[in-house]
Amino acid sequence: MDQPDGGVAYRTATARTLDWVDGAIETTDQTQLPHRHHRLRITTVDELIDAIQRLAIRGAPALGIAGALGVALSAHRHHDGDYPRAVHDDARRLAAARPTAVNLERGIQAALLRVPDGPDAVLRHALAHADADRGTNRAAAVRAAELITAICPDRPLRILTHCHTGRLATGGRGTALEAVIELAGSGRIESVLATETRPLLQGARLTTWELHTAGVPHRLCVDSAAPAALAAGMVDCVVVGADRVAANGDVANKIGTYALAVAAARHGVPFVVVAPESTVDRYTPDGRGIVIEQRPAHEVTSVAGVPVAAPGTTAFNPAFDVTPTGLITAVVTEDAVLPGGRPAPARADLAGRIRR
Ligand code: MRU
Repeated sequence: MDQPDGGVAYRTATARTLDWVDGAIETTDQTQLPHRHHRLRITTVDELIDAIQRLAIRGAPALGIAGALGVALSAHRHHDGDYPRAVHDDARRLAAARPTAVNLERGIQAALLRVPDGPDAVLRHALAHADADRGTNRAAAVRAAELITAICPDRPLRILTHCHTGRLATGGRGTALEAVIELAGSGRIESVLATETRPLLQGARLTTWELHTAGVPHRLCVDSAAPAALAAGMVDCVVVGADRVAANGDVANKIGTYALAVAAARHGVPFVVVAPESTVDRYTPDGRGIVIEQRPAHEVTSVAGVPVAAPGTTAFNPAFDVTPTGLITAVVTEDAVLPGGRPAPARADLAGRIRR
């Protein structure tokens, strides 16, 4: 299952990030990239939960697809047994694998609606969900690229992005990262600063790889240097993804997003979030209601299995933080520009771009 060359793109333009192959879910193990291209074959819901919890499958839209395919996997396993009760039991365990990204629960719930129609109907739904994500990504990315161009019209852009929001995090080419690549395609990008991102260096390992593959000039930014880059005037716009957007516009995203938003506001740099509508949770009034996943200490007390902290050291290792809407310029989805609480530059005519 390994691809020894380590150099070719780990997904072609047409292949699915998560796919169904001979009765199992197949995907690339995101923890191994970019040095090793390991194809994961997942045959049980327990294996899927493990892959999600250790971040082999990660990124909010990809979690939604994984949730839907997980229900299909369970439906096929249990069709001759305790159907549909066993599928609903699996779905409950799967939904609890990670609590913050609303996409996982949504992907599962939508797939469960097809369970009465049988396993093949659930699978057809899950694959349609995966394929629909491409168009969703594209629409949000194009809208975001237009908005960023309007907000920052003057010069080739220096973008700062956080975590990884590209192909492997979605069913298409990405959310925030597809917007950046879209801008690059029209010659609007001077360079991208990609943060390292904790706990597993998602930005260093995955974002730089995708920018490299797309031919977009970039540098890796030490996480703790990002506010200094904003202070030094090295960034024209911050563009990030989201795991859950509350009804009032507060955004849960990868740990470190809040610090970036504070620094961006302090230094007058626009802060744009790109996410699908499936990440917008109108049932959670504000960020206080969003459950933030806490990760195990060993992820940060060792690096590649080598201890980097004193024996017995515990850790504060949250996966996400909440950025209040007051620090955000706009949240862009495939359907709309949702203005944040931070005024955009007057010339950007943000109001003229709001679709609802
Ligand atoms: O812990 P992770 O790597 O799953 O966190 C991912 C993020 O925070 C992404 O920014 C978010 O899911 C959007 S992915 C298009």
